[in-house]
Amino acid sequence: MKDDMNGKICLVTGATNGIGKATAQALAQMGATVVIVGRNPAKCAAVVSEIKQISGNNNVEALVGDLSVMAEVQQVADQFKAKYQKLHVLVNNAGASFLKREVTAEGLEKTFALNHLSYFLLTNLLLDTLKASAPARIVNVSSDAHKGARLDFDDLQSEKGNFGANAYGRSKLANIVFSYELARRLSGTGVTVNVLHPGLVRTGFASNMGVVLSTVIDFFMRFVGLTPEQGAQTSVYLATSPDVENVTGKYWVKSKAVSSSPASYDEATWTRLWEASDKLVAVRATAG
Ligand SMILES: NC(=O)c1ccc[n+]([C@@H]2O[C@H](COP(=O)([O-])OP(=O)(O)OC[C@H]3O[C@@H](n4cnc5c(N)ncnc54)[C@H](OP(=O)(O)O)[C@@H]3O)[C@@H](O)[C@H]2O)c1
Repeated sequence: MKDDMNGKICLVTGATNGIGKATAQALAQMGATVVIVGRNPAKCAAVVSEIKQISGNNNVEALVGDLSVMAEVQQVADQFKAKYQKLHVLVNNAGASFLKREVTAEGLEKTFALNHLSYFLLTNLLLDTLKASAPARIVNVSSDAHKGARLDFDDLQSEKGNFGANAYGRSKLANIVFSYELARRLSGTGVTVNVLHPGLVRTGFASNMGVVLSTVIDFFMRFVGLTPEQGAQTSVYLATSPDVENVTGKYWVKSKAVSSSPASYDEATWTRLWEASDKLVAVRATAG
């Protein structure tokens, strides 16, 4: 076990599979205390055991919550804060793409809720802890699938028959827009925010896209896909490297800062998405 991250506390969402699991494992191997978040208790327990065994690090535990449900995002944050006073690295990674439009019990379109609103709410609920732990880092996993997408503020819930036209890409654009606005808001606090595309990675990502599409994607990924460990490299780099200690508000591919889409740099969109997201999660938080 390397000990570069000894004494650091890291929280990784969607760490029961794929890129998040490989990220959590790498952080544990570097000596960090790692809290994984997953939605399936049995899978969480198995992954915690596996990471402990592979890393030789016993400071690994799981919090369970369905992150497409804002009340459960709140519970995860509450449970984390009840146990830990510090958070040095938050990796917002949980995400999925769905074949058909689905609505959560809270009335939110599932792609937008899981892929964007969970990042927005969990981060905001943990911001005080992150600031109190500075220097601290937030790493948001987005995708090059954001390219070509545009946010429609009259239809953030994809209610107007626009779901098929890249709800996933819009949610990944929202990751980037959120990251840029958050970096601006966190200026001078010692908390950095970066956002990344992990590459095309062989994971369970296609599992919600129906049998035909997921079989085609899995077949294609066997030839072109990175391993989860390779796909986690940029997340781990942004979470740990001294090279990026003071770097914030950038989009990364293969551990290099690159440009995101022109639409992502529209500052009016940054503010507008923040306000719309704040309203949506506040409504859910008070609704129940
Ligand atoms: N794979 C790629 O080529 C690729 C490319 C670009 C971007 N990305 C991004 O990479 C991130 C990770 O995806 P991946 O490829 O590693 O996919 P994955 O193997 O399907 O892993 C996704 C993780 O998120 C969890 N998750 C899904 N829905 C959840 C929910 N409602 N509540 C809590 N956790 C939930 C999954 O839990 P379970 O284990 O219970 O399923 C799993 O741990 C995503 O943000 C994705 O958009 C992936």
